[in-house]
Amino acid sequence: MTLNELKEKCEGCTRCELCGGRTNLVFGCGKEDADIMLIGEGPGENEDLQGLPFVGRSGQLLDKFLAAVDLNRNKNVYIANMVKCRPPKNRDPKPEEQDTCIYWLREQFKIIRPKIIVCVGRISAQKLISPDFRVTKEHGLFIEKNGVLMMGTYHPAAILRNPNNKEEAFKDWLALREKIKELDLNV
Ligand code: URA
Repeated sequence: MTLNELKEKCEGCTRCELCGGRTNLVFGCGKEDADIMLIGEGPGENEDLQGLPFVGRSGQLLDKFLAAVDLNRNKNVYIANMVKCRPPKNRDPKPEEQDTCIYWLREQFKIIRPKIIVCVGRISAQKLISPDFRVTKEHGLFIEKNGVLMMGTYHPAAILRNPNNKEEAFKDWLALREKIKELDLNV
C-alpha cells in the first residue's frame, strides 16, 4: 500500500469522537520513504483548515530548526501527529483518542520505515518512548526501540511560550544532525 492509498482509507475515519470536529484530516506530509520522521501531538486550527501538519506559528519555528540542520519537510523528513483530527479548542488529545489513532500512525511507520523518530513534545514522547518521559530531563537522548532510534525534544509551542528553552531545543536538532552523519543516513 502507498501512503496515498492509506490516506484515502483514513479520510473517512470515524473511530473516535474527534472526527466530528474536523474540517480536514491532517494525515501527514513529507517524503514517502524518509529516514527521519517527526511526530507532534495533534492539529491546531491552521492545520485543520489546511489539512497539513505544523503550518501555524509552531510550524514556522519547527521549519527553522529543520532548515538549520539541513532538513526540510518537502525533501527529507516526514511529519505527522499522534492524532489526525483537531481536538476541540486545541486541548491535548486524550489517551483513548491517541490509542485509537495510533492504528494509522503504525500503518504509516510500516510504509515509511523511518530509521529515526523524533517526538516533538511531551504527548508523543510519552506515548511512543515512555509513559513517564520528562522533556526537560530526557530531551535530546536517543534510545532504540524495535530497531528504530527515538528521541524526544521540546514542542515549538512550548518554546514560543518560554523562549528560554530555545537554546536547549536547538542542541537536540544538532544532536539529530550528528546522529544522521554517524549513521550515514540518506537525507
Ligand atoms: N502542534 C502539533 O503538535 N502538531 C501540529 O500539526 C501543529 C501544532
